[in-house]
Amino acid sequence: MSKRTIVTLPGDGIGVVVLDQAIRVLTAAGFEADYVHGDIGWEFWCKEGNPLPKRTIDLIEKYKIALFGAITSKPIDEAKAELSLELQGKGFTYSSPIVGLRQFFNLDICIRPCRSYKGNPLNFVRRGKGNTIDEPLIDVVIFRQNTEGLYSGVEWTNPPAQVHQAFMTHPKFVENFGNVPVDELSISTRIFTRKATTRILMAAFEHAKKYGYKSVTVCEKPNVIRETSGLMWRLAKEIQKNLFSGIKLLNTNIDAQMMWLTKNPEEYGVIVASNMFGDIASDAFAGLIGGLGFACSAQFSSNGVAVFEPTHGSAPKYAGYAVSIVNPIAMIESACMMLDYLEEKKISSKIRKAVAEVIAEGKVRTYDMMKMAGRPEVVKNGAASTSQMTDAIIARLK
Ligand code: NAI
Ligand code: MG
Repeated sequence: MSKRTIVTLPGDGIGVVVLDQAIRVLTAAGFEADYVHGDIGWEFWCKEGNPLPKRTIDLIEKYKIALFGAITSKPIDEAKAELSLELQGKGFTYSSPIVGLRQFFNLDICIRPCRSYKGNPLNFVRRGKGNTIDEPLIDVVIFRQNTEGLYSGVEWTNPPAQVHQAFMTHPKFVENFGNVPVDELSISTRIFTRKATTRILMAAFEHAKKYGYKSVTVCEKPNVIRETSGLMWRLAKEIQKNLFSGIKLLNTNIDAQMMWLTKNPEEYGVIVASNMFGDIASDAFAGLIGGLGFACSAQFSSNGVAVFEPTHGSAPKYAGYAVSIVNPIAMIESACMMLDYLEEKKISSKIRKAVAEVIAEGKVRTYDMMKMAGRPEVVKNGAASTSQMTDAIIARLK
């Protein structure tokens, strides 16, 4: 096995804690790599006026693969107030480094698997016939377009005249908003490109084919958002027909999908959606398999950059604990996605099997799995600490 260099981006709060745990597991499982640290997060905003320093961008550009913990992000006013005194008033404006990373490297494909582990007390259960309780095992992978759509940042309050004039060329705008004073208008656009939409669809179908999923579901709203959701649906039909006729193509509306979520979540395989709907669908499905302690993700660009991270944030309220209590599994699972990407399937399977065994056995559970409120005392009350959970996983590696 050749040795790789991985850029580690611990970031803030519990990001630092869980990333350390993932590296412990990777090493114990026999993954050989050099890790180089990249600065990212709040500290660098406060000290340097930039939460994503150029030196970190350069590292990622050089090594192409990053394992990322989580960052703290705050509203612009709070950010301004926390900027170091000598930098204040010098024109620094805060923007989220995670969004910055996505934009800089064009990390347009985001994959968020939601797979339940047998024996996880947080698994979704539903009433069956009579008084029975079903616990359907869920295995859904959400493909979220990560750079366009409603999150692309093309928006205005009190739009400039040119923009307003352009909107006034649309009969629906004239009819519904034509009389609204311009300074009372806020507009956020939802822009899709054929290229990025095709890329996320292709990635979804290829994943379905590679891992044997029977269906790809486009989760949008083409009956109402005809142009953008419509584009995705039309392209999906074309791609399925021409290239993936063995995979069933389904179409759900995001609102209905949320309702069906608890009805038949086990019936979905790969789900593909635009930026915001993918964000919603992935959080919703993550809730069925244990929540943020279990939600992992990967982001890919078209030019070979890949970033792996848990979906959760920096959870500042748990960051300062002398003994950390947060669940490291989301980060460890994200590291497994990195191993899959590196074709280290043997090691990733070994780690996933160990995680599955620890969960199934049920002796070692972090506070979230015990449905406790997160407090320092949870460890005294029987919950595993972060590192005890990692120890248990490492002990199961074979
Ligand atoms: P969060 O994900 O940090 O935490 C929300 C709650 O989820 C926590 O209070 C905790 O109860 C639970 N939780 C999160 N991770 C957990 C884990 N590994 N084990 C057990 N429980 C866990 O989201 P929140 O509180 O909204 O944001 C905190 C900070 O993180 C903010 O500054 C926010 O901007 C940032 N953030 C960063 C993200 C990233 O780096 N990708 C993503 C989401 C939020
Ligand atoms: Mg989210």
